[in-house]
Amino acid sequence: MAVSNVFYAPGEQRAAKVGDLFAAIARRYDLLNDLQSFGLHRRWKRRVVELAAVRPGQRALDVCCGTGDIALALAQRGADVTGLDFSPAMLEMARARSRKSETGDQKSEVGTPSSVLRPPVFLQGDAQQLPFPDHSFDAVTIGYGLRNLSSCETGLREMLRVARPGGRLVVLDFGKPPNALWRAIYFAHLKISVPLMGWLFAGNADAYAYILESLKHYPAQQGVAEKMRELNLSNVRVINLLGGAMAINYGEKPK
Ligand SMILES: C[S@@+](CC[C@H](N)C(=O)[O-])C[C@H]1O[C@@H](n2cnc3c(N)ncnc32)[C@H](O)[C@@H]1O
Repeated sequence: MAVSNVFYAPGEQRAAKVGDLFAAIARRYDLLNDLQSFGLHRRWKRRVVELAAVRPGQRALDVCCGTGDIALALAQRGADVTGLDFSPAMLEMARARSRKSETGDQKSEVGTPSSVLRPPVFLQGDAQQLPFPDHSFDAVTIGYGLRNLSSCETGLREMLRVARPGGRLVVLDFGKPPNALWRAIYFAHLKISVPLMGWLFAGNADAYAYILESLKHYPAQQGVAEKMRELNLSNVRVINLLGGAMAINYGEKPK
């Protein structure tokens, strides 16, 4: 497949390019998320947190945590949360938001008045080599992260490895709508309006054109569900949002 974006490279160079991308847009990341999804990403992330179903005292890991929205929302449910990301710039934003939420100054990404019971620990690390022992977490989430890994299968395997038996794996990402007309309209939006907004509000069209490029190389909801089944997860489900433009993949580690 032809590659046509400065932030996309297959194979070993992928991580470095993705790292450059998030270093470039970290400060504007949350604003652009709100603009491009019309605020809907908050609702989708709420759904992820519901599916993670953590109870107070349980341990949760949010992989590719970025600026910390899902991690903070999990912590509001009383979980003992770790957010992991490889980008120092994104982690800096996450830690700043976490400090604000401790003082009650920060609305959480999912829109509830926030004061987290126990703030998440934000750690630098690689999603493809998680620095945790097997069977460590009751829930493992990843929002808009799996698509960015050089091997989404390795990412899923790592999430599964660190989950406890019975633990929930929840993946939120861009999807490929099954309806051909809707898919064409949606891909046109990703090709034209999303980079335009990136240029206008973050001064970087390429970073946002990357979304479509990365999506083309991503197996999306059906492919991820298939991989989850191959890995023997149970209760594998796909939840399509906006006609499949976004999707949540859910599965449980067998007991
Ligand atoms: C699109 S952002 C998603 C942030 C957040 N989860 C959200 O939903 O808004 C993707 C994040 O994945 C991180 N990332 C990409 N590849 C990674 C890897 N191999 N290991 C750890 N983090 C990675 C990036 O640094 C970035 O913060």
